[in-house]
Amino acid sequence: MPDVEIKQAETQDLEPLRQLYLDAFPDEDLFPLVSNLLGGSAPVLSLVAVSGERTVGHVIFTPCKVDPSGIGVALLGPLCVTPGLQKAGIGSALVHAGFDRLRATFSQVFVLGDPQYYGRFRFKSDDLVETPCPIPVAWKEAWQSVSLDDAAVAVSGRLVVPDAWNDPALWSD
Ligand SMILES: CC(C)(COP(=O)(O)OP(=O)(O)OC[C@H]1O[C@@H](n2cnc3c(N)ncnc32)[C@H](O)[C@@H]1OP(=O)(O)O)[C@@H](O)C(=O)NCCC(=O)NCCS
Repeated sequence: MPDVEIKQAETQDLEPLRQLYLDAFPDEDLFPLVSNLLGGSAPVLSLVAVSGERTVGHVIFTPCKVDPSGIGVALLGPLCVTPGLQKAGIGSALVHAGFDRLRATFSQVFVLGDPQYYGRFRFKSDDLVETPCPIPVAWKEAWQSVSLDDAAVAVSGRLVVPDAWNDPALWSD
């Protein structure tokens, strides 16, 4: 992996993140979601990968609850790495750094994403927890979770998310 430091994002990281998201997602504008999550009242874990002075990667983990038990879980996303430095381990380092920080509080993490990528972190398709908004049938396998605690029982119910995630457009194509 290139010489990259993973650290908690700070307010001054917002502008570099705008460019990072433009570069990493040329066909999709995820920056409004990022900005809503980072500026909202619900706490999130926001990690940046920094190389020298440059922000080269970012991930957000959002604490959520599963109804009806109220058990706390985390939702991973978005995750991105600047195009010139992809496939060098930065995305994996961000995900693992997040898991390390979340493990004390959460025993399960959810993601809506490509199973081919997230499978490397032991994410598996999850049919016990419903997404907060409907997802296309074709994305069923993309709704996944991973346990951070092998002794924990998998949760079931419906994911309850903070407002920033409560937008049906974020859950459909
Ligand atoms: C997906 C992404 C975050 C991965 O980060 P990364 O730093 O490139 O990934 P890593 O270096 O940790 O892992 C690389 C491995 O993942 C694979 N990979 C990367 N993106 C993938 C994808 N979309 N689907 C499947 N596999 C993928 C690579 O082929 C590589 O495989 P290998 O280890 O067998 O060679 C990054 O490629 C990216 O920002 N892509 C554009 C934005 C995006 O799609 N984000 C994810 C959805 S929110």
